[in-house]
Amino acid sequence: MIIKIAPSLLAADFSRLGEEIRDVEKAGADLLHIDVMDGHFVPNLTVGVPVVASLKGKTKLPLDVHLMIDNPRKFVEPFARAGADIITFHIEVVSAPEEVLEAIKSYGLKAGLALNPSTPLSKIEPVLNDLDLVLLMTVNPGFGGQKFMPEVIPKMKELRQIIEGRKLSLDIEVDGGINRETAKQIIAAGANVLVAGTAVFANPDRKSNLHALRFGQ
Ligand code: DX5
Ligand code: ZN
Repeated sequence: MIIKIAPSLLAADFSRLGEEIRDVEKAGADLLHIDVMDGHFVPNLTVGVPVVASLKGKTKLPLDVHLMIDNPRKFVEPFARAGADIITFHIEVVSAPEEVLEAIKSYGLKAGLALNPSTPLSKIEPVLNDLDLVLLMTVNPGFGGQKFMPEVIPKMKELRQIIEGRKLSLDIEVDGGINRETAKQIIAAGANVLVAGTAVFANPDRKSNLHALRFGQ
């Protein structure tokens, strides 16, 4: 399985975002994870459409937009126009994800559904075949630098089995508290896209940070 690393910009120095992005791109990142928070669904407020628009064209990396917001349907078009390549929203805020998934795909983007640590896979099983990725949160969303929640590992294993059983090819992206210690267990559990903020941006050697995450050492 090819392991992809998606540095989360939430942990980057926002006063030097362009340099930070060039840094991780040079160091071998596969995606840029952009955490959009509205202060309602999560108790934090971060970046929005103008930041995504300013990044587009400045990097070859796909922009992996993680919407931690109450009304994702309303923001599909603005983020699509701003240059998002992937839009992931939370199953906890919609009763009918199909409509939002359709809107994301109508712009030719990849569509993902995110689950908080306590949300069961049963919530997304009905639409699993329509997804390009599932984002399993291993922290309660809202902040970087939190502790990894190992109780989510069985959910990764179960999801990988369901995907293999249905012969689907969607990605299992894991997000929150991922570092060189936890990366190995996460990859062994079947995840193939690792989001990491602190572990990538906290210390200067981006290349070795990314390498350690990708190979779990
Ligand atoms: C949390 C965000 C995560 C977070 C990851 O709500 O969705 O992407 O920024 O940061 P670390 O890797 O520091 O936990
Ligand atoms: Zn995220």
